[in-house]
Amino acid sequence: MNLLAFFEEDRAAVDTALDRLMPGESVQPPSIHHAMRYSVQAGGKRVRPILCLESARIFSADVAPILPVACALEFIHTYSLIHDDLPALDNDDLRRGKPTCHKQFGEAIAILAGDALLTLAFETIANASIDPVRRVAILSHVAASAGTVNGMVGGQVADIEAEGHAIQPADLEYIHRSKTAALIRASVVAGAIGGGADDQNVARLNRFGETIGWAFQVVDDILDVEESSAALGKTAGKDAAQHKATYPSLYGLEKSRQFAKELEDRAMAELETYGSRAARLRELAELIVHRRA
Ligand code: FPP
Ligand code: MG
Repeated sequence: MNLLAFFEEDRAAVDTALDRLMPGESVQPPSIHHAMRYSVQAGGKRVRPILCLESARIFSADVAPILPVACALEFIHTYSLIHDDLPALDNDDLRRGKPTCHKQFGEAIAILAGDALLTLAFETIANASIDPVRRVAILSHVAASAGTVNGMVGGQVADIEAEGHAIQPADLEYIHRSKTAALIRASVVAGAIGGGADDQNVARLNRFGETIGWAFQVVDDILDVEESSAALGKTAGKDAAQHKATYPSLYGLEKSRQFAKELEDRAMAELETYGSRAARLRELAELIVHRRA
């Protein structure tokens, strides 16, 4: 995904803040901090932090206080990738074009690095310089989105349990909306709350985030079929190899592409009311749907 210049700016700010918020490699015990940094700094696109910042920007000119929240979302995302790649889950050797965390540091440290990043995420949000009521609301949204009820862990469980089974469209929808869309939705909502949005606007951004998060996973499924491992930085073609429930496997590529476009249109409609204030967020939504990696 080629990020436009203003997203490059966001990404640089996020990368600097991520570095500042993680314990240094010489802090005791160095091995875990080394592994956490290895995976966080492996070169992710930073989609969730940038969504968070750009959502905040609709409501506030100064998004600096939101930066730690944006980083917390990347910590949670990275934890989920580390654990997803473990032998007990997807058993993958390649992530972001590099050996996966457990390949590099062993399983025990990889499990603990994931745990540590999840914990660090909540410590980071708790310490953010945001009004306490808004901060607690952000904590609640982010925690729920990573949890078992319509959240990432719930979606991951359903995903694993669906492997090799013929599944219904409603099950596939549940998996995608929980496993991937929930954290993306929380990223957008956290930005809106932190930026000072009122309840009505938070609800609108919630709908936008949910829809664009869903589109993100539909596109992820399509790219797993269409792109090479080199382009994706992770093992391509894994979904079919593992008999995963995906949009292309259920509906075919063409219908999947149409559906992603439909979700993009729905998401965009939520932003109409903001006019040029949402120009960046609109641009980002478009990139999410039309990315090639
Ligand atoms: C790619 O993100 C990641 C996804 C499509 C999310 C998949 C969901 C999981 C792996 C959930 C796992 C959950 C548990 C609890 C183990 P990306 O394209 O933004 O990756 P990048 O950060 O490398 O750019
Ligand atoms: Mg996986």
